[in-house]
Amino acid sequence: MKILVVGSGGREYAIGLKLQNEKNVEKIYFAPGNGATSNFGQNVDMSDFNELAEFAKSQNIELTIVGPEAPLSAGIVDIFKSHGLNVFGPSKNAARLEGSKAYMKEFLAKNNILTAKFLNTDDKNEAFKFIDTLKAPLVVKADGLCAGKGVIIAQTHDEAKQAVSDMLSGESFGDAGKRVVVEEFLDGFELSFFAICDGENFVSLPVAQDHKRLLDNDKGPNTGGMGAYAPSPLATPELIKKIENDVVKPTLKGMQNENAPFCGVLFVGVMVVDKTPYVLEFNVRFGDPECEVIMPLIDGNLSEILLNAAKGELKPVKLKPKCAVGVVLASKDYPYKSSAKAKISVKQIPQDTALLYAGVSAKDGEIYADGGRVAVCVGVADDIKTAQNRAYELCKNVNFDGMQYRKDIAWQALV
Ligand code: AMP
Ligand code: GLY
Repeated sequence: MKILVVGSGGREYAIGLKLQNEKNVEKIYFAPGNGATSNFGQNVDMSDFNELAEFAKSQNIELTIVGPEAPLSAGIVDIFKSHGLNVFGPSKNAARLEGSKAYMKEFLAKNNILTAKFLNTDDKNEAFKFIDTLKAPLVVKADGLCAGKGVIIAQTHDEAKQAVSDMLSGESFGDAGKRVVVEEFLDGFELSFFAICDGENFVSLPVAQDHKRLLDNDKGPNTGGMGAYAPSPLATPELIKKIENDVVKPTLKGMQNENAPFCGVLFVGVMVVDKTPYVLEFNVRFGDPECEVIMPLIDGNLSEILLNAAKGELKPVKLKPKCAVGVVLASKDYPYKSSAKAKISVKQIPQDTALLYAGVSAKDGEIYADGGRVAVCVGVADDIKTAQNRAYELCKNVNFDGMQYRKDIAWQALV
């Protein structure tokens, strides 16, 4: 079959690489793709969803997989379906689980799913009053999509009030911050839980951990994610059962009740406090860089798994008893500002590793670092320590001016 992957990052590259090795996959298209996806697929430069759907029809594309949240929230799935196409991802209505933190928190409350105590408001005084009822630190979130930057962990009540004022005035995040969620701070460890859903049923994938901070020891500013590994030993079988029963099942039921059945990847950002999972956030897609370490652990045929899910006929998924660690190579000034383009040189790709490209462009047969998160070095092995060693072995073989990466990815699995 022919498959279209929407997106341009390491996540979409990882999906493409997995598909490329499947016998039934004839051709992969990426919209828009990046400077390296064109090495094994065809990049398509069309941003209008109707135009892209017409293109998919004209090429007999049998399945479209949507990677990022922005096109999902903008309704790409609804448009592709209206053209009679198979598409894996949630509808615009279902994507509100990620697109609006206020909607998500109200949904959790309505469906008795555990989450941090919160207030959702556009009124400054109301927010201030609620802030005074909480202990510091506390958390202030902009309602809308802010590319992972709309969350402020305030150390004091004054800092929280300042964050609320800046958001509601539109100063920090424009319209995305005109409504805020204020919530209690949860002190625990975080997991990224992924379930492939077909609207009614789900299959859980290996549980991952992301590393959101820029620097080792979880220091520095938040980023889109500096590395990930899976499966996490912190996700015990009991915890996984709790997440499935107390979060995923009621979420799928709740979305059916909202007339927005959830088809796609439900990504639950979980905070575990005293062995109890609290929902920090939902995302309606694979995580990036989590996807890069989950893809090598799927034994089954991804194109069939996702096509079945898109048709509402999800089947069980076979997983490999392996571990994967992925280290993000970021550009010099990430996440503060964009960096100058830099040529990437690669010495050698050792066995059981993969170099997945993200923010790159191509010129004259060379690949250039041309974005914040440039590439992900993934190592696969029977255990996490060996997978980590392999990933770092690959990192040493890659170079570009200003390249930076964390040296402690997967630390929580190895203490
Ligand atoms: P979110 O986009 O809501 O997942 O928030 C981004 C990051 O902020 C999370 O991954 C957590 O590290 C942190 N965070 C968000 N909400 C809370 C909370 N209630 N308590 C503690 N940390 C939080
Ligand atoms: N790595 C977290 C995310 O994709 O949102």
